Amino acid sequence: MVATEEKLKKHGIHNVKIYAADITDLPALEAAATEIQRTVGGIDYLIANAAFVSGVTSAGRPEVLRKDMIDSFSTNVVGFINTVNAFIAGVRTGQVKKVIAITSGMAKRE
Ligand SMILES: NC(=O)c1ccc[n+]([C@@H]2O[C@H](COP(=O)([O-])OP(=O)(O)OC[C@H]3O[C@@H](n4cnc5c(N)ncnc54)[C@H](OP(=O)(O)O)[C@@H]3O)[C@@H](O)[C@H]2O)c1
Repeated sequence: MVATEEKLKKHGIHNVKIYAADITDLPALEAAATEIQRTVGGIDYLIANAAFVSGVTSAGRPEVLRKDMIDSFSTNVVGFINTVNAFIAGVRTGQVKKVIAITSGMAKRE
C-alpha cells in the first residue's frame, strides 16, 4: 500500500485514494466497501482486476498443479464473487452502475 502511494506521488497523481483488502477475505472486503461508501458515496465502476496468475510451470509436478488450481479457484472465482457481493450495494447507488471483470483470452467464447 505504501509502495503504491509512493508510485502515485512519483507520477504526480493526487486524486486517487487507496484501500487494501484480500479478495479471498470477505469481511475485509466488506469493511473496505463500507469505508469507500462512507468517504466517496456510490460506486460508478467496480473493476475486478485482482487475480492469481501462477508464475511457475506445473508440467510433471502434480503437487504444484494442485496448489495452483486451488489458489486460482480461491482467488479468481470465489474472490471475484466476494468482490461483487461486497460492492454491489454501493454500485447500485452509483450513477453509472457498471461492474467490469478483467478476464483472460481463455474466457472469450468466440
Ligand atoms: N498479464 C497478462 O498477460 C494478462 C492476460 C490476460 C488477462 N490478464 C488479467 O489482467 C488482470 C491483471 O493481471 P496482471 O497481469 O496485472 O497480473 P499481476 O501483475 O499478477 O497483478 C495481479 C494483481 O492482483 C492482486 N491480487 C492477487 N491476489 C489478490 C488477492 N487475493 N486479493 C487482492 N489482490 C490480489 C495483486 O496484488 P499484489 O501485487 O499485492 O499481490 C496484483 O496487484 C488479471 O485479472 C489477469 O487475469 C492478464
